[in-house]
Amino acid sequence: MRKNRVAGNWKMNKSLQEGEELTKNIIALNDNSNDVELIIIPPFVQLSSLVKLTQNTDIKIGSQNNHEAKSGAYTGEISASMLSALGVSYGLVGHSERRTYFNETNEQLLAKTKALLSEGIIPIFCCGEHLNERNSNQHFVTVENQLNALKELTAEDFAKLIIAYEPVWAIGTGETASAEQAQEMHAFIRKYISSNFGKSIADNCSVLYGGSCKPSNAKELFAMPDVDGGLIGGASLVAEDFIGIKNSF
Ligand code: 13P
Repeated sequence: MRKNRVAGNWKMNKSLQEGEELTKNIIALNDNSNDVELIIIPPFVQLSSLVKLTQNTDIKIGSQNNHEAKSGAYTGEISASMLSALGVSYGLVGHSERRTYFNETNEQLLAKTKALLSEGIIPIFCCGEHLNERNSNQHFVTVENQLNALKELTAEDFAKLIIAYEPVWAIGTGETASAEQAQEMHAFIRKYISSNFGKSIADNCSVLYGGSCKPSNAKELFAMPDVDGGLIGGASLVAEDFIGIKNSF
C-alpha cells in the first residue's frame, strides 16, 4: 500500500548554518514512532550538507526545482544530474510559486519531471487551484489541466511519482482547506490517475496535501482516506511543528 509522507518545503528561507541547525533539531526530535517518511526540501545551497547530515537517518532530502536540460548554457540553473550526484532523493515540480512567478508551463513541467525521473529522483508534482477558480467551481478543471501535463508519461514512470495538492488560496494564508475539501480533491486526483494509468498505480500513489498545514489541523486532514501526508511550508521551519505534524498520523 501507499506510503505516508510529510515533506517540508523551506522555500527561500534559512542560511546554511540555520538549515543545519534546524535539521539537527528535526533529527533529534524524530522518534521514529510511526512509519511516516520525512522529507526536507531546503534551498539548493544546503542540499549537499543536509544529505550528509541525514545519511544515517530515515530522513530524505529533496530539491525545490531543476532545469530540464542535462547541462549547458543556462546561467543560474541546476540540472537533475547535479542533484542526483549530491544524493537528492526527491524533487518538487510545478509548485504554484514557480508557476506564478516564473511562468512555468505544462510543457516545461513535463520536461522537468522527465529529467528527474531519468536521474532516479522521485518527482513531487504539485497542483492546485486559485481562489477565483474554486469560487467559480472550476477547481476540478484546473487540477485536471495541470495533471494533463503528465499524460504522456508511461504508466511505469507515473508509478514513481508523488502528487501534492496545494490550493493556492491556502498557501501561507493561514486558511486551510477543510478536511472534506481536501478529501474531495484527493479522491478526484486518484480517480484521474486510475482512469489514465490504472487502478493499482492510483492506489499506490501518495497524494499529499499542502496549504497552511500545522500540528493543530494535520490530524483531521491525515485522517481522510485519500490524504497520504502533507507538503508543509511555514510550519516546516520549526522543528517541533514539523515533527508534530509527522506525529499527527
Ligand atoms: P504553507 O504551509 O506555508 O501554507 O505552504 C505550503 C506550501 O506551499 C508547501 O509547498
